Amino acid sequence: MSMSAPEIATDQWKRIAAQKAAEDVVDGMVVGLGSGTTAAHLVEALGQRVRQGLRIIGVPTSEQTAAHARQLGIPISDLGEHPSIDLTIDGADEVETRTLDLIKGHGGALLREKIVAAASRAMSIVVDETKIVERLGSHFAVPVEVVPFGWQTTAARLRELKGEPQLRLDADGRPFVSDGGHSILDLSFRAPIRSAAELDLALNSVVGVVEHGLFLGFASKVFIGGPNGVKLLTRS
Ligand code: A5P
Repeated sequence: MSMSAPEIATDQWKRIAAQKAAEDVVDGMVVGLGSGTTAAHLVEALGQRVRQGLRIIGVPTSEQTAAHARQLGIPISDLGEHPSIDLTIDGADEVETRTLDLIKGHGGALLREKIVAAASRAMSIVVDETKIVERLGSHFAVPVEVVPFGWQTTAARLRELKGEPQLRLDADGRPFVSDGGHSILDLSFRAPIRSAAELDLALNSVVGVVEHGLFLGFASKVFIGGPNGVKLLTRS
């Protein structure tokens, strides 16, 4: 599928952010490999360096990323073999400037992404500048991964949190199924989220919720690609 001119520019911003973040990867590292279109540029950049002799082990966050890494010759493993990850590099749907908190999961890989992030000593995020927001929830709904059994009841519980859940569908109009075999409810609020920390706790206590796309306190660096190059935000 061909890209429009703005999409080509955005894709270039994603690419330069990913290439910059890849420079932090050094010999001997176990690297968490994110999912999505921006993380795909990261996998490309690492694949190129592996061909030039870089020795790393990648832990992919989705079947799609695993296939991509394999195709590029990046050795991959899993958390069973490598329970501690030196650095994970992943994309995001929104990054809150003040806190570096994130919304992730619009690609549907949020569960594995969060498990890998939680096992990582550091996490770098790669985005284009359109993903930067003052407050989370400004543009995107919060993806909530749920057990398919009784999802309607789980959705009713989510409505009690003052959000509107929508069952995610795939390109064929069938319920989307994650790598873990779950469904996703995209939970939208009419305004930016007042307290992401409170929502995080509330979502974690809903029966039927497996995980959700609020990533609070995970990102240590954010590489932001834009028309003037790559800007870096770090968490103090
Ligand atoms: C995948 O589930 C997501 O968390 C992605 O990291 C996020 O949606 C960003 O994707 P893009 O890089 O494709 O925008």
